[in-house]
Amino acid sequence: MHILVTGGAGYIGSHTVKELVKTGHQVTVLDNLSKGWRATVNKARLLKGELTDQRLLCELLQAEKIEAVMHFAASSLVGESMQCPADYYANNVTGSLVLLEAMRKVGVPYFVFSSTAAVYGEPIEIPISEDHPTIPTNPYGATKLALEEALPWYYQAYGLRYISLRYFNAAGADPEGELGEDHNPETHLIPLVLKTALGRAPEIKIFGNDYPTPDGTCVRDYIHVTDLAQAHILALEALAGGVDFSIYNLGNGNGYSVLEVVQATEKVVGKPLPKTFTQRRAGDPAILVASAERIKRELQWKPCYSDLQTIIETAWRWQQKNPLGYPKC
Ligand code: UFG
Repeated sequence: MHILVTGGAGYIGSHTVKELVKTGHQVTVLDNLSKGWRATVNKARLLKGELTDQRLLCELLQAEKIEAVMHFAASSLVGESMQCPADYYANNVTGSLVLLEAMRKVGVPYFVFSSTAAVYGEPIEIPISEDHPTIPTNPYGATKLALEEALPWYYQAYGLRYISLRYFNAAGADPEGELGEDHNPETHLIPLVLKTALGRAPEIKIFGNDYPTPDGTCVRDYIHVTDLAQAHILALEALAGGVDFSIYNLGNGNGYSVLEVVQATEKVVGKPLPKTFTQRRAGDPAILVASAERIKRELQWKPCYSDLQTIIETAWRWQQKNPLGYPKC
């Protein structure tokens, strides 16, 4: 199939493009390079452009005979979304609706959507299944949920078939070492811990040690980015194979505390790392752990790289090889 991947130069998008190309698909990436990196896209065509450019989208979908869209392009930081909700609504809702409108006009039938665990809000039950109530506590989660809520209507009225994938904590790097995680600014735990190991950050700041968890630090479900990428391929195959719509969680089902992640990293890098406890970060739930039983059962998804040590080892290999991240051009 010829697939359009929006945000394909970003972290999860680029890992998915790699797996799509490996599987034999043709890929075109649309990315405005505000967060993504040109260097990640070396096996697909990269088009620099905006999601809100409906003419560009329609021309692209039509000229390239695109059969499916994987939609990663989005703003995706909880903290930032609290400060700038307007940007989140513009990028994640308006931008996505323009994309859906172009798909509708041209008649592209399949849509795989990057959603998030942030749609659930504060969990009332752990592990979190797809049937858990969705009461987001930040604009990031709210904007992703807004699009999820539009999709059943688009299916009903226009026949758009879709799978929405709710990611927990994407982490790790391409096991073949070509791709990694490079955000600017970096806010995610594992890359920040590794930057401290490389001497590029003075210390790890652990946000809060008074949560109702075994060691007082937040518990998260870290899932390897290549396992996430594989799930996108399965989602695409399911749509092409006749599935009309679905929503799946993507996580490991195992929770690790911030301290456990730091300790596991100390083992991988072979030295103790400087760390301090600071105040809680606004908007952080104490525990987020997925039940991903539905996608395992229905699409036979099997995470292969998602034990914590493999996640950290693959991320560490990439960070050591690319201490400054991707080329900034
Ligand atoms: N943390 C620290 N110190 C840091 C950075 C993070 O202690 O320097 C902690 C956070 O407080 C959190 C955990 O490490 O408890 C993981 O934080 P990340 O920033 O790596 O990831 P989040 O859990 O905030 O975010 C992830 C996804 C979002 C998703 C969210 C759901 O990246 O897309 O989970 O709440 F929305």
